[in-house]
Amino acid sequence: MHTAPQTKTRFEPTRIAPETFLIHDHQGEGTEPVSVALNTMVIRAAEPVVVDTGMMENRDQYLADVFSLVEPEDIRWVFISHDDVDHTGNLNALMAAAPNATLVIDWFMQERMGASLEVPASRWRWVQDGDSLDVGDRTLRIVRPPVFDSGTTRGLFDPLTEVYWGSDAFASPMAVPVRDVAELDLVPWLEGIHVFAQYISPWLQVVDDAKFQRTVDRIADLQPQVLAGCHTPMIGRGHVADAIAATRIAPSAVVPPQPDQSVLDAIQSVLPAGA
Ligand SMILES: [Fe+2]
Ligand SMILES: [Fe+2]
Repeated sequence: MHTAPQTKTRFEPTRIAPETFLIHDHQGEGTEPVSVALNTMVIRAAEPVVVDTGMMENRDQYLADVFSLVEPEDIRWVFISHDDVDHTGNLNALMAAAPNATLVIDWFMQERMGASLEVPASRWRWVQDGDSLDVGDRTLRIVRPPVFDSGTTRGLFDPLTEVYWGSDAFASPMAVPVRDVAELDLVPWLEGIHVFAQYISPWLQVVDDAKFQRTVDRIADLQPQVLAGCHTPMIGRGHVADAIAATRIAPSAVVPPQPDQSVLDAIQSVLPAGA
């Protein structure tokens, strides 16, 4: 746990649509039974957009990957899907390096981040679910995903490429790190979507199903050709329907319990002294 593996699988950014790239990171490899993606995205729109900022632990590689795709001074927008550490880990560093970028957050996000947000208010823009963001050659739509773990969560749909960034939605673990869900076995991938949905959004079990389905409909109605997110490999055209269908039934799926104290006892029993 929290021990870096000796070697970490390295993926160069993946082009998932025209001028749209997934930047890869992951955790768990070599130390836990599965790996979990920690992706971010870059849209080279007329006004380039960076979507989420990854983990602090991966800062050097994250910034190198972003700047391999877009020059720091060309970044116009940094969109944060919500204020969890795996999405904001390099927010301050990126904004410091990108002098022409505006930080796209919302009121609640800056309230929740408090003093950890070092970007001055003059560089903010607040957008909410249902809003849009003009980035020069396209107007991005802000659409909340059906599964989320922070009240600040907003997804992002690009009507030009039909890519939807679902933040924590459509997440699933990987037996080994991969770029694309097409490389995963279908059944464990879809079961993983159920697990993540319930872990991320335990309230799904108490939500009226018809109302929940309407939140999934909002994404289906966008007719995305690619689903991207922080904790999933790329979900390409042939797998979008499967991911949406798995999300629809996630609230009632039977999923394994989270590791409990007995698991921690077993871990601690083999830890070296002081670890
Ligand atoms: Fe989250
Ligand atoms: Fe996340």
